[in-house]
Amino acid sequence: MQTKCAIEMKGLTKRFGTVVANDGIDLQINRGEILSLLGENGSGKTTLMNMLSGIYQPDEGQILVDGEPVSIRSPKDAYAYRIGMIHQHYKLVDVFTAAQNIVLGLNDEKLDLKQINSKVQEICKRYGFNIEPSKKVYDMSVSQKQTLEIIKVLYRGADILILDEPTAVLTPQETEKLFVILKNMKADGKAVVIITHKLHEVMAISDKVAVLRKGKYIGTVETSKTNPQMLTEMMVGHAVALNIERPKYRKPFDKLRVEGLTCVDHEGICKLQDVSFTARGGEILGVAGIAGSGQKELLESIAGLYPVKEGSITCIECEDHQVQLVGLAPRQIRDAGVGMAFVPEDRLGMGLVGSMGMTGNMMLRSWKQGRSMFLDKRGPEKLAREIWEKLEVVTPSTEFPVRRMSGGNVQKVLVGREISREPSVLLTAYAVRGLDINTSYAIYNLLTYQKMRGSAVIYIGEDLDVLLELCDRILVLCAGKVSGIVDARKTTKEEVGLMMTSLKEAKND
Ligand SMILES: Nc1ncnc2c1ncn2[C@@H]1O[C@H](COP(=O)(O)OP(=O)(O)OP(=O)(O)O)[C@@H](O)[C@H]1O
Ligand SMILES: [Mg+2]
Repeated sequence: MQTKCAIEMKGLTKRFGTVVANDGIDLQINRGEILSLLGENGSGKTTLMNMLSGIYQPDEGQILVDGEPVSIRSPKDAYAYRIGMIHQHYKLVDVFTAAQNIVLGLNDEKLDLKQINSKVQEICKRYGFNIEPSKKVYDMSVSQKQTLEIIKVLYRGADILILDEPTAVLTPQETEKLFVILKNMKADGKAVVIITHKLHEVMAISDKVAVLRKGKYIGTVETSKTNPQMLTEMMVGHAVALNIERPKYRKPFDKLRVEGLTCVDHEGICKLQDVSFTARGGEILGVAGIAGSGQKELLESIAGLYPVKEGSITCIECEDHQVQLVGLAPRQIRDAGVGMAFVPEDRLGMGLVGSMGMTGNMMLRSWKQGRSMFLDKRGPEKLAREIWEKLEVVTPSTEFPVRRMSGGNVQKVLVGREISREPSVLLTAYAVRGLDINTSYAIYNLLTYQKMRGSAVIYIGEDLDVLLELCDRILVLCAGKVSGIVDARKTTKEEVGLMMTSLKEAKND
């Protein structure tokens, strides 16, 4: 029989070697409620939910579904208890259509398409989704893929839904749409658990908030009786100042001059059109825009990773040392004496090698600079240790494979490595995506430190509040064009938001 309390966890413990990822957790998940699961990077949120979805087995403790003790040994078992999880990394087959992905692995795979489609349509209508069943996954945007994952879970009859950082890859508009859907599910009596690091989302969407700290359960509070400051303290264990310092560099100087930059992708679609701006040493230049407005192409073309059709990118190392970057590969840029560091969006693709530990990943960046083919491991090891300590990376050792670290810790390793090179140009794409609030502030401070060293920092971000507080100037992109560059100390969120969607507001400082 269904009860209000859908799931009860009693003393759940999960260890990985010497790491206690979850330590005797007692937590309840109720029907007709949205519960936020909050905690710093590596605090054990994903692990705990993976035990409910059958990916991990608890070492100790018990899971009760509707009051009955159960053993969930596989995701299939989880579905039998109507538990479905939407993971941080989607598990879809690219070459299949939406409909094929939805029924993948089910016995009714051979059902006729008409029947599948009508069931999918029914789900879409009920909760407010919009999807084309015949569309191939490789043609879908990130948000469409996420929608598909959710429908897949609902198709299997789940009424306990767990979403692991679903908004990390969504635009604010897409997030709003997702929240409407989650509210519809709640109204339909489903139990929803959402993991997010964004406290304003926690406040906006959830009925209750459960907090984990270093693998331990701290408590559950009603959202209406709490606030971001209190939640942060519960997460971290002490008071944290939630404001970003923005000192002014004495005299910012021109460092990177981009003129008439135009880039076209392999299908001939224009990604950047006639983009011109100057990034200054001693400044953080923010880049704002709705997802896919050319942010990625802009950074990659500066870093020598995206072909440039027209235009120039000049790095002014000093008066008589100017380097034209167009046409140079990353290695050639470095050989030309330009100190450039790059924190890409895709951490484990372009950034780090997942099977290697921190030391190995440090080596990857530095070995080409050395003369010998034989690696001097002492430098990278020392650096790995420094980053481990300074950024409080949660990992058993500097040799632990980065792919097994929690999402936020992977990002710390990458940012730490790039910043350690004391670059004169620092390019960052979504540097705090997936990071907990405390670590995000640590990263903001590191970027500001680089700026005060005289580095030209380019910061692509999605959180307008942060862009306005952290940056000196903000360049706004709209459909691959610059719609304006504004003084971050003088502009407003509304002004930037408007520029993101229309070129008419063009205004240059
Ligand atoms: N498969 C694994 N093998 C070894 N250690 C693991 C494994 N999965 C998780 N861990 C460790 O367990 C701890 C908790 O990780 P988990 O991924 O649950 O954290 P999280 O709260 O989801 O963090 P984030 O917010 O960064 O996603 C971390 O120290 C992590 O390194
Ligand atoms: Mg996680």
